[in-house]
Amino acid sequence: MTASGQHGHSGYVVAIVGATGLIGQTLLTVLAERNTPIRELRALATDGQGRRVRFRGDEIPVQAVGADTLAGADVVFMAATKEASERWGPWAAERGSLVIDKSSRFRMDPDVPLVVPEVNAHAIGSKRLIASPNCSTIQLVMALKPIADHREIRRVLVSTYQAVSGTGRDAVEELDRETRADVAGEPAPTPAIYPYPIAFNVIPQCDAFGDLDFDGEEWKLVRESQKILERPLQLSATCVRVPVRVGHSESVYLELDRPADPEEVRAWLAAMPGVEVVDDPSRRRYPTPLMAAGRDTVLVGRIRRDPHRPEGLHLFVVSDNLRKGAATNAVQIMEAVMGR
Ligand SMILES: NC(=O)c1ccc[n+]([C@@H]2O[C@H](COP(=O)([O-])OP(=O)(O)OC[C@H]3O[C@@H](n4cnc5c(N)ncnc54)[C@H](OP(=O)(O)O)[C@@H]3O)[C@@H](O)[C@H]2O)c1
Repeated sequence: MTASGQHGHSGYVVAIVGATGLIGQTLLTVLAERNTPIRELRALATDGQGRRVRFRGDEIPVQAVGADTLAGADVVFMAATKEASERWGPWAAERGSLVIDKSSRFRMDPDVPLVVPEVNAHAIGSKRLIASPNCSTIQLVMALKPIADHREIRRVLVSTYQAVSGTGRDAVEELDRETRADVAGEPAPTPAIYPYPIAFNVIPQCDAFGDLDFDGEEWKLVRESQKILERPLQLSATCVRVPVRVGHSESVYLELDRPADPEEVRAWLAAMPGVEVVDDPSRRRYPTPLMAAGRDTVLVGRIRRDPHRPEGLHLFVVSDNLRKGAATNAVQIMEAVMGR
């Protein structure tokens, strides 16, 4: 491969907008791992600044996103900001690129499919601009789908425990900076990303507050889950940021139309592609973020019935927010489109 990312004559021309960010970097890893046929990889960001990214052992120069660097791309991954997606997503799709958008800009647009391939690949249709859901939504619908196939879900209550990498690279640096200062006995640095220190803390806010005092992340869980599962799910959530680097956790309570035996729920979940049941209380086996980090599967455990209501069910759902929550899901969307 040459410095511009040329890789022989076969394969796709792939552009990553936001290649220097956490999701962009994870996309590079996932594309290499899955041996995606790529003939040219374009690493795009706000500008080049002489930066380089690594892809399959090669150093690829970073370039500014623009008409010249996007033209002719077969696939464009948008992993930057809502504004960048708005500016360049439709532009590239109108010129024939398959655009897979990681931002929230188009997720609720009725003309844009919002896709988790294991759950609703059928929604892709012939569209060229496809949205990938929020990280906390992806792992939730992966766990809800196999249950919704067997029971009517009357109500869902979710509390999340979300990693700082979900906020991007600057938030990971903030956690590291605060942790180092605390351990060294130095004064706490003033938080720049979160409203309060995140190290050794828990912050019950993941986005700006909106209707009914729920925050944006909580509304994304509601609306995106309803769109993907194609039903008016009665879901409400409390989203909480915790000092974990990678891996979102969710405590999920479901009210079903009729009772389900935890053993049969385990079997439904185990049969779902992309889900792994980690649930053996007698051996202290349950999912944790450290267990999920670096993996593509959504881990589900602590499956148990509400002692007071037989139709009530508890689950604990954990996944790597950078991989299945973002990069892997986006690459799976590409595979679903290109593979047919
Ligand atoms: N982190 C997660 O778990 C997660 C999960 C799901 C979805 N997402 C979404 O994925 C996107 C990327 O998130 P991230 O966590 O990777 O963020 P990040 O680590 O902060 O990286 C942001 C990237 O976007 C680039 N960028 C910013 N503004 C740009 C512009 N106007 N034009 C072109 N590139 C621009 C940055 O380039 P420079 O280096 O030049 O600044 C950088 O490469 C966001 O839309 C986010 O909401 C993130």
